[in-house]
Amino acid sequence: MDKESSDLVMNMIHARSSQLSDGEPIGPPIVTTAKYKLSGTPDTPYTYGRDINPTVEATEAAIHALEQAPTVAFPSGMAAVTAALMATTKAGDRVLVPSDGYYVTRVLLEDILAGHDILFDAIPTRDIATTDLTPYAVVWLETPSNPGLDLCSIRSISESAKASGATVVVDNTTLTPLLQRPLDLGADMVVSSDTKAMSGHSDCLYGHIATRDEDLFQKISKWRKVSGSIPDPFASFLVHRGIMTLELRLQRMCESAGALVDRLEGRRQLKSLKYPGIGFVVGLTFESEAVAERIIDECPVIFASTSFGGVHTSAERRARWGDDVAEGFVRLSVGCEPTEALIRAIEATLETL
Ligand SMILES: Cc1ncc(COP(=O)(O)O)c(C=O)c1O
Repeated sequence: MDKESSDLVMNMIHARSSQLSDGEPIGPPIVTTAKYKLSGTPDTPYTYGRDINPTVEATEAAIHALEQAPTVAFPSGMAAVTAALMATTKAGDRVLVPSDGYYVTRVLLEDILAGHDILFDAIPTRDIATTDLTPYAVVWLETPSNPGLDLCSIRSISESAKASGATVVVDNTTLTPLLQRPLDLGADMVVSSDTKAMSGHSDCLYGHIATRDEDLFQKISKWRKVSGSIPDPFASFLVHRGIMTLELRLQRMCESAGALVDRLEGRRQLKSLKYPGIGFVVGLTFESEAVAERIIDECPVIFASTSFGGVHTSAERRARWGDDVAEGFVRLSVGCEPTEALIRAIEATLETL
């Protein structure tokens, strides 16, 4: 971990504890309320549960310390994606999205926002750098793309997008602010599904948006308030607790992913292997759907499920959702199990194929 990430983790872990007085709990209390005492002319920010909640604020403060940017939390990654698009577009605008990125973002644009005259084009991540960005109000990036795991340069695309007046939004779910900081690379806004590695235990849905642009921050906050998409305090508590160990978990997950890739490369059972050199998600292509399903079902250390970024190693065949990948493509999310035991178990199952 570089010095900057180390400083971010120190700040995040101590963001709350350094502010406490004697007798206060180290973790954020789970405050469940719809109402606050509010008499006369309101002179407190604590007005109503849809506007503000102390547990949500504590989680936002911790994420703010990692993102180094004001942060608004949401009840899921898709709630954050929706807020980002609602805050950055108006009727008549065009959005550029990756055709190999998270598919529900495209479903939102195609099935819902197109009806409000917000149009979009979807092109592969590897082609975005050479695309004319002038028609777009928003350029949406996801690098590495999920599930294709292709990369693009946030810095150079942000430069071209800015020149044509577009807002650059990066869905940073697969890397988190400890592995990639899009705002430092020129992006206007970061969106994340904290359901994945940020919370890390696969026990809640969550999302956030971080931006250093005051106007965008105000629009996002307003959207959350009027659309009623404030997250639940209990989920906020789980995310606060989860991100305290984000750096440790990522360290194990990324080291194991790298070691696994070294050991699997060139194996006869694999048609191809894709790993962007960073992160914990690995793309494995087997010769057929049947072989891919066998490794997922038969390997005792692989939990068959959608989603990624949790402590359990998990995998799924992404073609089952209609992603543009081979039928035998498996997205493997490497978890926190002991590295050698994990790799040996996967190797042993591969040998039975
Ligand atoms: C890259 C990416 N962005 C956004 C989302 C949506 O997040 P959520 O499932 O928390 O709504 C996902 C979920 O898989 C994702 O993979």
